[in-house]
Amino acid sequence: MTQLAPKPAPDIDWANLGFSYIRTDLRYLSHWKDGEWDAGTLTEDNVLHISEGSTAIHYGQQCFEGLKAYRCKDGSINIFRPDQNAARMRRSCRRVLMPEISDQQFIDAVKQVVKANERFIPPYGTGGSLYLRPYVIGVGDNIGVRTAPEFIFGVFCVPVGPYFKGGLTPQNFLVSGYDRAAPHGTGAAKVGGNYAASLMPGQQAKDTVIDGHHFADALYLDPETHTKIEEVGAANFFAVTQDGRFVTPKSPSILESITKYSLLWLAEHRLNMPVEEGDVYINALDGYTEAGACGTAAVITPIGGIQNGDTFHVFHSETEAGPITRRLYDELVGIQYGDVQAPDGWIVKVTES
Ligand SMILES: Cc1ncc(COP(=O)(O)O)c(C=O)c1O
Repeated sequence: MTQLAPKPAPDIDWANLGFSYIRTDLRYLSHWKDGEWDAGTLTEDNVLHISEGSTAIHYGQQCFEGLKAYRCKDGSINIFRPDQNAARMRRSCRRVLMPEISDQQFIDAVKQVVKANERFIPPYGTGGSLYLRPYVIGVGDNIGVRTAPEFIFGVFCVPVGPYFKGGLTPQNFLVSGYDRAAPHGTGAAKVGGNYAASLMPGQQAKDTVIDGHHFADALYLDPETHTKIEEVGAANFFAVTQDGRFVTPKSPSILESITKYSLLWLAEHRLNMPVEEGDVYINALDGYTEAGACGTAAVITPIGGIQNGDTFHVFHSETEAGPITRRLYDELVGIQYGDVQAPDGWIVKVTES
């Protein structure tokens, strides 16, 4: 393992970080060959040298993850639910026929990368965090549509601020006529093809202005019937009903958001709300008083309004987060930064050996 020489604090405006690539000091790489992953190393090189025939390039044989490390008030470092990302990455690997990574190797790699890039973790109180990007790609000489002869598991990190500008400021979303995934396709796996399919609808949403409303991203309906809400850009959807239930869609083409399942638990156990995973029909939005997008990058982004054809539906307010959304945000973010007691197993301390 490369030893990190002490380096000065990077010249970063922590309070105004966006969601852009910043080259950090070290990243982790492990290779799979002849049936096993090697021990993995940290490297300064941020460029991969792979065969032009790699299946990741031609056939999208790859998957990735996203999770965050947080600087706490006492200086320690929290990672939020990495076991859940490890489990989801195994499901993604299985779906596109790639070798799986054990919990131990995944969490160990993430911890190594956080420790080696500690100077890039935004200070407590700035609202920033260290975003970790694990990935697995099929590599090696190949040309036919088949699984790769070799694989790379990598983890790199980037200090980030809010994904949607403005934190708890409501954003509008535009219902797309396109689908990000097929009904029985790869929507539940975190594979690049789903994101390639979302680039054009996402750009169309950002380029659209209707009656003075701008849109942060596309909102996707279920690909089978186009009647139910599925995903909001690269985030899951939740809503609060008139009678105070927390509702979030369930479908095999949705990526199972770790943030969403955390909110389901927090709504039930900390806010004492009835919760359900169920259908949210796009033509029945009057039944909801609040709505939001949730994810590692999006955290909790309140939804101001949804544009569906000619109709613009406003939930709580176009300018302010609703009261339940705000309470959920305070619980979730409080747990992540170590200010609120976490449920068992949700936080992994990096400073622990
Ligand atoms: C398509 C999609 N949906 C939902 C999410 C939110 O998932 P999580 O809360 O695990 O970050 C993400 C981000 O990972 C995503 O890319």
